[in-house]
Amino acid sequence: MTTHKILLIVGGGIAAYKACELIRLMRKDGMAVRCVLTASGAQFVTPMTLAALSEQPVHTSLWDLKDEAEMGHIQLSREADLVVIAPATADLMARMAAGIADDLATTLLLATDKPVLAAPAMNVRMWQHAAARRNVAQLKADGITVLDPDEGPMACGEFGPGRLPEPEAIMAAVRRHFTGHSPLAGQPDFADATHRPLFGKHVLLTAGPTREPIDPVRYIANRSSGKQGFAIAGALAALGARVTLVAGPVNLATPAGVERIDVETAREMAAAVKAAMPADAAVMVAAVADWRAEASAGQKIKKSGAAPPALALTENPDILATLSIAPDRPRLVVGFAAETENVIEHARTKLAKKGCDWIVANDVSGDVMGGADNSIHLVTAAGVESWEKLPKDQVAVRLARKIADALA
Ligand code: CTP
Repeated sequence: MTTHKILLIVGGGIAAYKACELIRLMRKDGMAVRCVLTASGAQFVTPMTLAALSEQPVHTSLWDLKDEAEMGHIQLSREADLVVIAPATADLMARMAAGIADDLATTLLLATDKPVLAAPAMNVRMWQHAAARRNVAQLKADGITVLDPDEGPMACGEFGPGRLPEPEAIMAAVRRHFTGHSPLAGQPDFADATHRPLFGKHVLLTAGPTREPIDPVRYIANRSSGKQGFAIAGALAALGARVTLVAGPVNLATPAGVERIDVETAREMAAAVKAAMPADAAVMVAAVADWRAEASAGQKIKKSGAAPPALALTENPDILATLSIAPDRPRLVVGFAAETENVIEHARTKLAKKGCDWIVANDVSGDVMGGADNSIHLVTAAGVESWEKLPKDQVAVRLARKIADALA
């Protein structure tokens, strides 16, 4: 059995303590771990701790003559099979994205010819800052795998995405790298972005519900969580596409590499879709409200004591059907259909009615809405493909690959 060699770079953040657990898990899996501790990382964990856990000397300085005599920093960066950064701080990622090499960690990262996997950890506002978004997009474009941070309460008292993924989750990504069982298995995870199958293609998605106001405090909506659409957007971006995601109100982090436009109503969604054109493919996953209140009241409707008010409804624009007959129609138009009975039959009818190329028919008779799994039938002019029940992220990967094949 080959021993996988990991170079673990520990950046400076409160989550650095989780790197200790990560080393333990790597060692348990039979991996050899060499640690590099940044100056700010050393404010949170000691070299002694990392050395004891890894059973290897820990490297901290570019200017350590003893280290340089034993093993040059170039060699250190080359002898590993995989470079893992945990925690990858905002500062470390910014310096990587800019190609700065002003300490041992960044010098190794610039000198390495090995795949790099970064597990970010930072405050939620920092993670959402345009500069951090830009740096993450740049690192991904450079072929670096950047894991999504976890969402939750933070050491600083705020809440949101930015927590270091749990050591087990980082470990799972490391294992996937070595076993090839990545969600995008078969795709060169660390390849140059220009080699990815959807490089140069623009894919437009809608996802989530829409919210149709009745008055300033009430609205009509539905139970769509947006999970499936967001997962597809992420999978398409991972395959190299430029992705525009028009999202209704959902509580989800934007997948890496995806440009997100937030909207509330069906009419706002329709306008955002139109503005984002042209596209090579469109995937309309949103559960658009079919109707809206004919007139939204300017003030909160009060109980008058008499009969409840009648709600006059009017139909919303059909975004999918409109796109299917647009002069600049994308080459591939994919619609979704949520059905509770006669799934395939209804999907075939919808394919014709909406004028799209594929319908991804979704059996929502169980707990699909908001749930983790999905039962899919892919209905096209050529026939029906029924997929086994799969987690939504795997449905996303499979569909993204099909889209890549169709656009090839
Ligand atoms: N869709 C859309 N704009 C709308 C309604 C639906 O773009 N105003 C899209 C959805 O994003 C989805 C597909 O059309 O891709 C199917 O939506 P669905 O609501 O199931 O279709 P309906 O025509 O409303 O059929 P049903 O009678 O089942 O509600």
